[in-house]
Amino acid sequence: MVLLSRSKIIVFTALVVLIVLLSQCKQADKPSVSTSENTSCVKTKSLNPNGDSELALLMRHMYDSLNSMNRLIKNGGVPSKFPESFLKIHTAKPTTSTTKLESFDAFADDYITTLRLLYKSPKADLNKNYNSLVQKCANCHEASCPGPLKKIYKLKLDF
Ligand code: HEC
Repeated sequence: MVLLSRSKIIVFTALVVLIVLLSQCKQADKPSVSTSENTSCVKTKSLNPNGDSELALLMRHMYDSLNSMNRLIKNGGVPSKFPESFLKIHTAKPTTSTTKLESFDAFADDYITTLRLLYKSPKADLNKNYNSLVQKCANCHEASCPGPLKKIYKLKLDF
């Protein structure tokens, strides 16, 4: 009898310990998920109490520029003045040092190459090259900063 109840106690204790461990795991998970969201990309002003980073402001200009180019192309226009300021994508200061992944520069180069291509496009290739540029924005964001993805995909032209 004594043996049996001892083993019951051991099993019970083991269960309690297991439950406590499991619940601690869950609690430990939560903050790490939310910090990685905060540091990988800042989505709204309210999430960023330190003000907007140079990179975030540049991104907004890049977004606005694509938005107006979308309208320009729809109305039969051709982009003219290459936006030299967007070349700063490599050096613009991000919100935190962890905002930029190791892959950032490769994605940024890919974006700049496609941007140059777009400004040299013959009219017949404008739609295709414009959409390909939107895809370059999306590629980097898929990897590092999914927040604005929906907004970015909306920039695509149907044709
Ligand atoms: C090489 C990677 C990369 C490319 C290419 C890229 N982005 Fe970003 N984007 C980022 C990162 C990283 C941030 C976060 C910047 C920060 O918080 O400092 C960001 C932030 C943003 C934001 C949020 C800015 C804010 O208000 O905080 C928007 C919108 C955005 N990008 C749109 C675009 C568009 C449109 C393009 C293409 C024209 C583009 N991005 C290309 C990496 C990239």
